[in-house]
Amino acid sequence: MTLPVRRRKSTTREQIIQEPETFRNPGAHPGAVPGASEASEPEATRRAAGVTESSRANRGWWDRNADEYQTEHGTFLGDDRFVWGPEGLDEVEAELLGPPEDLKGKEVLEIGAGAAQCARWLAAQGARPVALDLSHRQLQHALRIGGTFPLVCADAGALPFADASFDLACSAYGALPFVADPVLVLREVRRVLRPGGRFVFSVTHPIRWAFPDEPGPEGLSVSGSYFDRTPYVEQDEDGRAVYVEHHRTLGDRVRDVVAAGFRLVDLVEPEWPSWNTSEWGGWSPLRGSLIPGTAIFVCERD
Ligand SMILES: C[S@@+](CC[C@H](N)C(=O)[O-])C[C@H]1O[C@@H](n2cnc3c(N)ncnc32)[C@H](O)[C@@H]1O
Repeated sequence: MTLPVRRRKSTTREQIIQEPETFRNPGAHPGAVPGASEASEPEATRRAAGVTESSRANRGWWDRNADEYQTEHGTFLGDDRFVWGPEGLDEVEAELLGPPEDLKGKEVLEIGAGAAQCARWLAAQGARPVALDLSHRQLQHALRIGGTFPLVCADAGALPFADASFDLACSAYGALPFVADPVLVLREVRRVLRPGGRFVFSVTHPIRWAFPDEPGPEGLSVSGSYFDRTPYVEQDEDGRAVYVEHHRTLGDRVRDVVAAGFRLVDLVEPEWPSWNTSEWGGWSPLRGSLIPGTAIFVCERD
């Protein structure tokens, strides 16, 4: 399962983006298949979407939308802050990975890192992070902001690292909301963690799936079944997915964590703080004061 990371030799400390061979071979990775057409507006629907289709669609979507994402949210995220979600819960106060002083020297994998803001904060605490993302364009933003830690372009479902390579792993809305097989990803994360390691990840709070994804009052009335796990898919005129999100109920998430061999030690539902007046898509002060928007799972491997 372990894919070799293609390491470009560098005689300087210049940061580069590393990619496993299979990721660079157009025939071997779905993300390299020519992307779905953007000629017309994609159609939003609910339908089945498997592991490969979800990965290909999301790699393309994040590559196309990384610039806009960083322009829109980069200021809120900060270049070197560790924010768990739109509520603005900061790892400095949450300490879900442990006290910051204990992070020194720890090897930490950030999954779905985007521009690697969290990894940059971890590095500033003395940790040794690796930032991994499916999207090359997101990692180019990590390069633009800078740092000295490794950037790896790979799928969370096939982590290109040896067993027991990391002390900690984290993911702020990275990968887990987008994958068809979350247990596969969780098993991969467990595999690369050392015994006693911790994985903390945030996702959209499952309750949000029953409501329209709107920040205003229209986002406060139930419009669908919380129990309907059919993925949200945006597809092009040929029916090819160009964006996929997967819904799991709270119970599903707990069972996924346990099935992957983790112990769930906490489930954090950050409350919307009064200082945060920002909207982020369907997350807003109005909705945040009434229903949870983010669920953070704190998992440990024995
Ligand atoms: C909502 S963004 C979060 C990025 C960053 N953690 C942040 O807080 O800004 C989701 C990220 O997950 C990445 N992603 C989606 N599916 C992934 C997968 N299967 N493996 C690795 N990364 C994935 C996307 O490319 C994107 O950068």
